[in-house]
Amino acid sequence: MRQPEELEPVAGGWNTWRQYPSLQQPHYPDEHALRAVTAELRSRPPLVFAGEVDDLRDELAAAGRGEAFVLTGGDCAETFAESTADHLRLKIQTILQMAVVLTYGASLPVIKIGRIAGQYAKPRSSDIEKRGDVTLPSYRGDAVNSFEFTEEARTPDPGRLLGTYQHAAATFNLIRAFTKGGYADLRLVHHWNRGFTSNPAYARYESLASEIHRAVKFMEAAGADFESLRQVDLFSSHEALLLEYEAAMTRVDSRTGDLYDTSGHFLWVGERTRDPQGAHVELLSHVRNPLGVKLGPTTTPEEAIALIDRLNPDGEPGRLTFIARMGSKHIRDALPPLVEAVKADGRPVIWTTDPMHGNTITSSTGLKTRQFETIMDEVRGFFEVHDAAGTVPGGIHVELTGDDVTEIIGGSEHLDEQSLKDRYETLVDPRLNHQQSLEMAFQVAELLR
Ligand code: TRP
Ligand code: MN
Repeated sequence: MRQPEELEPVAGGWNTWRQYPSLQQPHYPDEHALRAVTAELRSRPPLVFAGEVDDLRDELAAAGRGEAFVLTGGDCAETFAESTADHLRLKIQTILQMAVVLTYGASLPVIKIGRIAGQYAKPRSSDIEKRGDVTLPSYRGDAVNSFEFTEEARTPDPGRLLGTYQHAAATFNLIRAFTKGGYADLRLVHHWNRGFTSNPAYARYESLASEIHRAVKFMEAAGADFESLRQVDLFSSHEALLLEYEAAMTRVDSRTGDLYDTSGHFLWVGERTRDPQGAHVELLSHVRNPLGVKLGPTTTPEEAIALIDRLNPDGEPGRLTFIARMGSKHIRDALPPLVEAVKADGRPVIWTTDPMHGNTITSSTGLKTRQFETIMDEVRGFFEVHDAAGTVPGGIHVELTGDDVTEIIGGSEHLDEQSLKDRYETLVDPRLNHQQSLEMAFQVAELLR
């Protein structure tokens, strides 16, 4: 792959995003240091490859037709400190365990995508955070600054973009080893799920679990021992938030001359930065990666169509995913007009549900949390809306961790407000823990049958 010129002339070039308004960008005090970093990034090898990105686009096209189901899961924000082998292994394991259950429930291939190997930057509602009489820049994720509340830690440091690249590269290395080296064998993952369903708290999933068990036993007895049972594709995704980083990771594919953002396979634009005339949409409109856009409850049908005009004007299948994050209270009213408008437009999109971000509350003890039941209610609402419209519910997008944290209330283990403090580790949004993630997979599998 060739590197495009850093500041290519606008005419006919792709580096046009600098001419558009850009929200949520850090203010780096030292412009020279930033330029040195982006120049360095441009010289580094790509993290993902054009062929992989094209494969994912084709698979997503199938999901749009109802021939596959998308599972996206991972942290709200990855941190450098938690990019350890243990944390990553448990997260990957959780996604794979969910995928087995969903594959059985949907009787369809499940496209597995992690919020992983690049999800290190966060949009914030305020540029600043005040504690007592001290005011400092907000924490914007490890890609930008450090969580610690000191002037030095909170000042955006462009060197962290190199740290982002390094942590993402090491994470990709681990993902490729785990998913191709036997660790992701369907039979092994099934064995882990047996451990989950043998816990009395999850008795309600027993019959589905034993059906899956018989299916796996049948495959074994019949001698199905193909490579495809031993390996999986786990794709990466993150919010394409930091324009300098995403632009620096963009490369021209030497085979086709097309542009790819090689920082991850799937990139999405957040609810806060999805202005069709903004810099984020402009930058992504030039790359071939499959794209997502988060849509909140205030999205109008006109905005949804404007996003299709900007990001998928020719209606290429698999190119564009709308990730609805409406909130359980709004999903049944806010989603139908969008689904109808897109259906009438005719250009294909994949509809997925993010049942997390519209359902964040503050517990009586002051911690940011979500309720498992409310999350599941939004998922059910999402399926109901598509059922009524005759459209395809294409997948789920959730925030989870493989660890036994206590950040979300409810589930069969009945986590309550008091237990939140036991192991509350997220720096940003609350995540489903390992057990809650599997529980969600079983419930979604029931909805898919
Ligand atoms: N390769 C198949 C798939 O990805 C089967 C498979 C192997 C699988 N290991 C898995 C599925 C782990 C889910 C989880 O669907
Ligand atoms: Mn989040």
